Amino acid sequence: MTQNKKRNSTGPDPITRLGGFDQLTIILEEFYTRLIDDIWIGYIFKPFDRQKLISDQAEFVNRSLGGPKRNYEPRNLKQIHRPLKITGGHFDRRHQILKEVLNEFNVDEEIKELWINLDLKFKAVIISR
Ligand code: HEM
Repeated sequence: MTQNKKRNSTGPDPITRLGGFDQLTIILEEFYTRLIDDIWIGYIFKPFDRQKLISDQAEFVNRSLGGPKRNYEPRNLKQIHRPLKITGGHFDRRHQILKEVLNEFNVDEEIKELWINLDLKFKAVIISR
């Protein structure tokens, strides 16, 4: 619930407002389609299972933005990303694509800001050089 300070305690959480876990998954399907096709960073994602990338990311975003509780055990993101040797440039490219997808889906400004800030908060954790 750390990303969730601004919300009215009686109102629905950001993921429910977005349209729930199913809508979150639809947005991430498009995000990962573009990431995997990207000429610059696509090669990093290609060896991995697309559906697993999407469902793990959905669980992570749902939990981080205070969505309805589900069975997901967060893993150590530094450890997972270290072997991928992700640079600041790779991170920024992914972040740009995320912003484009959130805009195209007309995600509510407040939810967009929470999501973008969540991502940015992990920059130092994800990049290795
Ligand atoms: C260019 C930047 C990034 C690349 C290339 C990348 C790539 C990957 C890849 C290939 C995996 C699968 C690793 C495996 O299964 O062993 C993964 C997992 C994951 N990544 Fe990233 N990632 C990036 C940025 C981020 C960011 C910014 C976040 C969070 C804000 C993030 C969150 C996650 C999560 C939650 C998982 C799944 C962890 C689990 O297994 O539960 N990634 N990433």
